[in-house]
Amino acid sequence: MIFDTHCHLNSEELYSRIDEVLSDARKVGVDKFLVVGWDKASSLLAIKLAHQYEGIYAAIGFHPTDIDGVTEEDFQEVMNHINDSKVVAVGEIGLDYHWVKDPAQRQKQKEWFIKQIKFANEHKKPISIHNREAFEDCLKILKEYPPLYSGVMHCYSGSVELLKDVLNLGLYIGLDGPLTFTNAKTPKEVCECVPLERLLVETDSPYLAPHPLRGTVNEPKNIALVIDEITRIKGISKKHILDVIYENSCKVFHV
Ligand code: NI
Repeated sequence: MIFDTHCHLNSEELYSRIDEVLSDARKVGVDKFLVVGWDKASSLLAIKLAHQYEGIYAAIGFHPTDIDGVTEEDFQEVMNHINDSKVVAVGEIGLDYHWVKDPAQRQKQKEWFIKQIKFANEHKKPISIHNREAFEDCLKILKEYPPLYSGVMHCYSGSVELLKDVLNLGLYIGLDGPLTFTNAKTPKEVCECVPLERLLVETDSPYLAPHPLRGTVNEPKNIALVIDEITRIKGISKKHILDVIYENSCKVFHV
């Protein structure tokens, strides 16, 4: 069985034909989905989906590029659901310096990141981290405010050298579509080096469709292509890889 530990079934593209998307995913063995929120509406929809469908779990939180105009009331309205039986993580949270260049805005991202790590720690939840072109600051924050209940560096984009720091924090490494891109030298090296016991698979659908579907609307069913690439790189049996990654996923999100 396969657990897609980062997908956005709460996005317009996938939500509009959710039954088909779920049925296609189940056909290739995906039986668990972590639907990740990025703002108030998407977090609340993730919770709704988790209660509507078997095998769906929710992560709730505010993405670094979606914090503009978010009020404390919005935060409370979402985070009041933290003890909901199907809410298993806080995410996606983190830093995104690709889209945001303004120092004041970056400072605001840091504050929101720290606030949400603290919240996750208080409520004994793992975190799902979004980090884009902000590795240095991201690690600095994680070292200063360590996630006490683990979590995942979603769509890990760092080097092999930085991998050790992330693993030392007790975090898991999430790999998805970019691993399969033909020019993806670093993700392939990371895949080779990361211990299987610390690896998770995800799609980030509808984004990051794997090769050869790159550029199309991604879906959880395409996770099979990511797993095939992991199998090829690791050179061990696919069944073993599937078993260990599934166990990792259930362990980190307590499902
Ligand atoms: Ni995402």
